[in-house]
Amino acid sequence: MDVIVVPGRANPQLAESLAKTLEAPVAQVDTRTFPDGEVYARILTRVADAHAVIVQSTNPNDNLVEAMLLAEAAREAGAKKITMVVPYFGYARQDRVFQDGEAISARTAARALGLDADHLVLLDPHKEDIAEFFPGTCTIVSAVPDLAETLGEAGATMILAPDKGARDRAARAANHLGVPFDHMEKTRLSATQVRMEAKELDVDGQIVAIVDDMIASGGTMITAARQLKEQGAKRVLAACTHGVFTNDAVPRLLAGGIDAVYASDSIEGEDAILVSAAHAIASGLQSA
Ligand code: R5P
Repeated sequence: MDVIVVPGRANPQLAESLAKTLEAPVAQVDTRTFPDGEVYARILTRVADAHAVIVQSTNPNDNLVEAMLLAEAAREAGAKKITMVVPYFGYARQDRVFQDGEAISARTAARALGLDADHLVLLDPHKEDIAEFFPGTCTIVSAVPDLAETLGEAGATMILAPDKGARDRAARAANHLGVPFDHMEKTRLSATQVRMEAKELDVDGQIVAIVDDMIASGGTMITAARQLKEQGAKRVLAACTHGVFTNDAVPRLLAGGIDAVYASDSIEGEDAILVSAAHAIASGLQSA
């Protein structure tokens, strides 16, 4: 079955790189937002009987709507199979009811994508359980090996997870590089003071890379970096799959003790050093 990559407006460069890796064409699309805020999507290239691979992160909300519309357009045009590649899955963190009365937003988003998409490809979702919310099949891929490779080139001698929950991801990066890893632990010193340090390893003189699934405000990384520098770390690198980077997070990270910021291209931007996830996504698609 012919593969055609259908780019959404959230990830045009990643869609191009993916198409190149897959040696597949990129569909011409007309995607726009009307003055009243409604989204319009049309696929101009013929996708009938083909495997349409839509590439679209689903944050903010308009991008989610555009992903749904592109899938609907592909279905209407007779695509035989529709795969939705979601580099950054918005709403991933609201994956359960934390307080009575809440919506499970991650489930709603996954179901909405499943109205027309048969298959879902997720890149380093916050938690892998999200896959179960999608009515079709799902493949989970990771940018961590490619990020680890880049951190190795930058001289990282140790990988840290900012908390226990991120330990598996850090372990994968460390194993890829063959360097030690640990997670950080927060100790409350007083009502206003916390201390974060590597639980087991000594960071003195090390080039430490902190690896997380996402950086939003940068608060987690900045707090960690300050403490690691106080504990003697030579350099602190911040790496994540999803560079959400709210409120000028990258300049603040660089001013706050981080020496370099790395992110995958799941969210396209110019502030951080981007490592393409195209190869990871292509491998996932080919093995699905
Ligand atoms: C939290 O569970 C995530 O894995 C990240 O650690 C968090 O979202 C980072 O947020 P911020 O950059 O705002 O500290």
